[in-house]
Amino acid sequence: MPDAYILGIESSCDETAAAVVRSGEQLISNVVASQIATHQPYGGVVPELASREHLRAIVPVVRQALAEAKRIYDSVDAIAVTRGPGLAGSLLVGISYAKALAFALDKPLIAVNHLEGHIHAVLLEERQKGNHEVSFPVLALVVSGGHTHLYLAAQQGDSWTYENIGHTRDDAAGEAFDKVAKLLGLGYPGGPVIDRLSLHGDAHSVKFPPAQIKNRDRRGRNDGRSVDPEDDHPRFDFSYSGIKTAILRYVEAHDMQAAIESRRQALAKISKPKVEDYLAHCDELTLDLVASFQRAIIEDLVGKTLAAARICDVATLFVTGGVAANQELRQTFEREGAHEGLPVFFPSRPLSTDNAAMIAAAAYPKFLARDFAPMDFSAEAGLALR
Ligand code: KG4
Ligand code: ZN
Repeated sequence: MPDAYILGIESSCDETAAAVVRSGEQLISNVVASQIATHQPYGGVVPELASREHLRAIVPVVRQALAEAKRIYDSVDAIAVTRGPGLAGSLLVGISYAKALAFALDKPLIAVNHLEGHIHAVLLEERQKGNHEVSFPVLALVVSGGHTHLYLAAQQGDSWTYENIGHTRDDAAGEAFDKVAKLLGLGYPGGPVIDRLSLHGDAHSVKFPPAQIKNRDRRGRNDGRSVDPEDDHPRFDFSYSGIKTAILRYVEAHDMQAAIESRRQALAKISKPKVEDYLAHCDELTLDLVASFQRAIIEDLVGKTLAAARICDVATLFVTGGVAANQELRQTFEREGAHEGLPVFFPSRPLSTDNAAMIAAAAYPKFLARDFAPMDFSAEAGLALR
């Protein structure tokens, strides 16, 4: 099979990204234009602004990805684009541009599920390191701003299939990081800030009650594990809205509101706050709370994921998505995985958060299978992964 150069385009949330990947195994170029500065004043992603920013960025970002790959439009073999899940208006910008390119260049168009992209970010980088063999069964935890999902991933020939065996019942883990950071006046996005600040607090100072998960059927257990009545498979669900409420109560009980408001105002005046800026505006109580929150989330994620890995007897664990960039999460998974003799693979930190290289990589098996998208396919905001 000759080399295939796939141009990937990703615009599902607040990053406009384009990348060129060779045959799902070599990153040739990877360009990501972040919209953080646009959404920061609002403390979260504003969908209308996101679509507008994607419209502005898409053409220069794709041009730059091709220029860095030293490729011309005509020398790519296919165009891959995120179909969903994500913000409908944002997805449409990437999809419309990908369709226009595919039509004008007469190249195949490949529609990719964003979550499958996150899983293939791991595969891309492992192949790039020369590791072409993955031991199955593979369990993949996709942990991002919108998802905390567990999939059993299988490969038949070139194509991949995914079985969801768990997901969050309410907030995703990344969403909890973002909401807690907002609540504490630490700005947006919350994950990277909490990651850095947690090093400065006592992670054992505040105790949070474990997430209560109401099981959907009577055979369910009390540990987040239940049995799906339809297919009899065990399920491993997560819940992160309770911890956000617990933090809100803690803030009220410790009269932290005034300090939070002055921190919010002080940080809003700094265009790109550094860790020293955050530290200058955080007292010990706040740093301890932040570190304890991060520890609680990580313990829950790692505990439930490793329980699922044990019960499903998997050979390999992938941990991917924006929250997989978290330093303590990576260390904890590595340590606990090693303890159980389970190999754990992550993407590098730049490929953990949203990017288009993962979309181009996930498109390669579809390219081989000639699984091309019709020109009239549309965005699917709630697209499921199967
Ligand atoms: O995968 P991603 O870039 O976009 C989505 O598909 O949602 O994930 C974004 C999420 C955000 O919630 C962000 O706060 C979180 O990932 N995140 C982190 C870190 N970096 C990004 N969470 C914890 N620690 C980090 N270092
Ligand atoms: Zn993502």
